[in-house]
Amino acid sequence: MRNVATGSMDTSFSSPFPLDNGLPPAALLRRAHGFKLDLCHALERIADNLPDNIDRMECLRIANMLAPAIRRIHACEEKHIFTAYAAVLAASADADMETLRRLKAEHVEDQCFADEVTETLLGIGHGQAIDNAEAVGFMLRGFFETMRRHIAFERAHILPILDR
Ligand SMILES: [Fe+2]
Repeated sequence: MRNVATGSMDTSFSSPFPLDNGLPPAALLRRAHGFKLDLCHALERIADNLPDNIDRMECLRIANMLAPAIRRIHACEEKHIFTAYAAVLAASADADMETLRRLKAEHVEDQCFADEVTETLLGIGHGQAIDNAEAVGFMLRGFFETMRRHIAFERAHILPILDR
């Protein structure tokens, strides 16, 4: 999580797990978003430091947590948050299940993307030469920008319903 005093990232990343520890759905989603945004920030820092200032330990650290963390967060969102959203909508006139289908599809895409990013970060972390820094940067930015858009969409369209 962000260090409020310094504005820098706490390199220990306070774990969001277990996510489903009795928090109300909106609080759970905000917590999941906070963790994912910290991941995005860490990935952006790696991308910004390509190719010469790479912290290989940081690449390994992110590689080790990224895919399982994203998988668990998505599972939690779908189990606790999307069901709460659907329950609220079912009781109202503006049912929009298409939104949930779209978000679930994006979860699957993000998961596949996370696996690719993990592989790349593992290679860098293990000392592999970065032959094409532009391609690596493009991949990292594609991943975290997609995740940020997904989060922004959930904030705009899911949280207001949960906060009702
Ligand atoms: Fe999501």
